[in-house]
Amino acid sequence: MEKKIQRLAVCLTLVIALLLTGCNADKHHYKIGISQYSHDIWREKQNTELRMGAFLHDNVELCFAAAYDSDERQVQQIDSLLGSGIDLLIVAPNQVQTISPAIDRAYDQGVPVIVFERKTNSQKYTAFMSADNYEMGHQMGDYIVSRLKGQGRVLEVKGLDGSSPAIDRHKGFTDAIAEAPGIDVIATLTGDWTEPTAYAHVRQWLKEHPDDRVDLVFGMNDRSAMGARRAFQEVGATLPLFCGIDGLPDEHGGIRLVRDSVLEASYIYPTHGDKLLQLAVDILEGKPYQKEIKLMSAIVTRDNANVLLMESEEITRQADYLLRLHNKADTYLQRLDTQRMLTWLAVLVIVLLVTAIVLFYRYYIGQVTLRQERVVNTLWDLKPEDIPEYAQHPVKPDDQPTSPDNDAPTDAPTNAPTDATPSAGTTAKADADEAGVQEGAQTSLFITRFKEVVETRLTNSETSVEDLAADMNLSRVQLYRKVKSITGSSPNELLRTARLKRSYQLLLTSELTVSEVAYQVGFTAPSYFTKCFKEEYGTLPGEVRQSP
Ligand code: FRU
Repeated sequence: MEKKIQRLAVCLTLVIALLLTGCNADKHHYKIGISQYSHDIWREKQNTELRMGAFLHDNVELCFAAAYDSDERQVQQIDSLLGSGIDLLIVAPNQVQTISPAIDRAYDQGVPVIVFERKTNSQKYTAFMSADNYEMGHQMGDYIVSRLKGQGRVLEVKGLDGSSPAIDRHKGFTDAIAEAPGIDVIATLTGDWTEPTAYAHVRQWLKEHPDDRVDLVFGMNDRSAMGARRAFQEVGATLPLFCGIDGLPDEHGGIRLVRDSVLEASYIYPTHGDKLLQLAVDILEGKPYQKEIKLMSAIVTRDNANVLLMESEEITRQADYLLRLHNKADTYLQRLDTQRMLTWLAVLVIVLLVTAIVLFYRYYIGQVTLRQERVVNTLWDLKPEDIPEYAQHPVKPDDQPTSPDNDAPTDAPTNAPTDATPSAGTTAKADADEAGVQEGAQTSLFITRFKEVVETRLTNSETSVEDLAADMNLSRVQLYRKVKSITGSSPNELLRTARLKRSYQLLLTSELTVSEVAYQVGFTAPSYFTKCFKEEYGTLPGEVRQSP
């Protein structure tokens, strides 16, 4: 039974432990590595969207790395992301040539790769997502032609030469301008997508061409356009028109700059981190997806800047709101998780406590029963020296009182010094010893006598406690009290134990049947005898008979 209780407790504990860990064993955990070649407001917006996209999937972990425009660093970062065991790689490669080998390595290892926004010269990728940079450059060229009414001098500030958007935007722009013979691209300066580089290169050019008129500067992104503008401002030259690309809705983004007439036009270069994340999850979950995904974009001019800004602000506001809702839900879920954990912990503690109490109780009851059984069972084996009082004061033959009721003082020991006068303390101790001796002797005699009486009478089924008491010259109550105080059991219990004990001996030593044994030891019904026997010895009388 204890074993059953223990096993049940262990099972419950395991179940609770499983519940506590809240195991999501059925959901695969995905680790997605994101390798950004740089860090700027455009990348930051995209990373935020990626994180928001991941809110929808509680089994997705994002690992970001930014190479700060270094090819070497980006290659190292991709390798270390792979080493960390990512399940999928999203990468915006710095330059077409340089990053390809690292991306190929990932792909060859079986890690799905999404190339985002910038191309490589390899076909080893799972999906490619971007706006069309050629189209963007072309449309910006068309806008510039129309804005300058087909006549004018344009300065182009490119992005990083080896990066695919710079290559494609330049091509698109050049193709558009080629259709307008009145437009003269007076110089094409190389930049690296950053404001300081554009500023430095334009400033140098202005220094070298102080008298050249410029009607419009096309920066390949808004930051380059703003760098060029700063250079014009600083040299005090007449400010031309400035066009860029990116059209971010932020405080310092292109849409606001166009609305405030700082830039003439921009072009929305979509970030769409959330879409990117969904594509990644679709690939990981084996859902259908498109290999080449083209993102929509649009030109930003003074005509639509206000509307676009209003819409962007509304979207930002909604996104903020969603983010706050998410955080709130997150906090709530965390609290719920903690509560659930505490509840299960409490249940666990209760289960363990109850188990401990039950086990202890059973042990305690077992001990008590054992003690009682021992008292009852051993009465018939009890020798006078086993009785505590007797053991302290063994009754020498000449100490023995003549009868249990005889309280006359016994004779003093013959070898006691006769001339010594005992002190008061010695006398008291001697008296106490004397009393102990008396009591031990009486108890011993009582037990011996009681055993005899019981042994004699146990064969008679009519024997009652009154009979036993009468044989002992006591009243029924006196006998009961005395027997109970010495043995912890009642006379009836002892009588029954004696009967069963005798029956056991008979079963082992005689040829009598079980029923005959039952009658022989004073039971009137063999079935009741069998029941009592089983209770006492845990086995049936018939089995005792069969055992060798
Ligand atoms: C952001 C950015 C944009 C630009 C794009 C080109 O990192 O520099 O400003 O349009 O990358 O890849």
